Amino acid sequence: MTNEVIKKLSEAALDVRKKAYCPYSGFAVGAALLAKSGEIYTGVNIENAAFTPTNCAERTAFFTAIAKDERDFVAVAIAGGKAGEEPEDFCAPCGVCRQVMREFCGDAFVIILAKPGEEKIYTLKDLLPQSFSPRDVLGEKAKRQKRR
Ligand code: THU
Repeated sequence: MTNEVIKKLSEAALDVRKKAYCPYSGFAVGAALLAKSGEIYTGVNIENAAFTPTNCAERTAFFTAIAKDERDFVAVAIAGGKAGEEPEDFCAPCGVCRQVMREFCGDAFVIILAKPGEEKIYTLKDLLPQSFSPRDVLGEKAKRQKRR
C-alpha cells in the first residue's frame, strides 16, 4: 500500500463524511473502500429516528460495493467526528463493522484511521483477532460461496 493510496482513501473518507445523515448523534462518519478492481466505494453513516436501523459508514461502503458485484477488497479509510467540523480524533470501526469486513476480507485487509493530515494503519487481524469467519461455517466451500 503506497503513501499515495493511503492519502487518496483518507481524503475520500474525509470528503464524503460531509454527506453523513446523523441528526441524532451529530457524529459524522465517512468511509472509502478500495476494491481489488481499483474502484473506490464511499459511504456515510445513515441514522434513523428508531435508532437501531442506523447504518455505519463502513457498512454503507461495503454494501454499496457488494451491490456492484465487487467481492475482493484491499483497504478502507475511516474518518469520524463532530458533524460540521474536521475530526480531531481517530475513529475506529465498531464491532459490527469489523465483523462485516471479516465476511469479505482476510487478515491482511488494511484499515486506515484518518484525520486531516494524519493516518493510523492497522490490519483486520489487528482489530479482529481470533475472528469467526465464513470458513467456520462453510469450511473449504467458503471460497466458492463468494457469489451467492
Ligand atoms: N458510526 C459509524 O458510522 N462508524 C463507526 O465505526 C462508529 C460509529 C456511526 C454510527 C452512529 O450514526 C454514529 O456514528 C454515532 O455512534
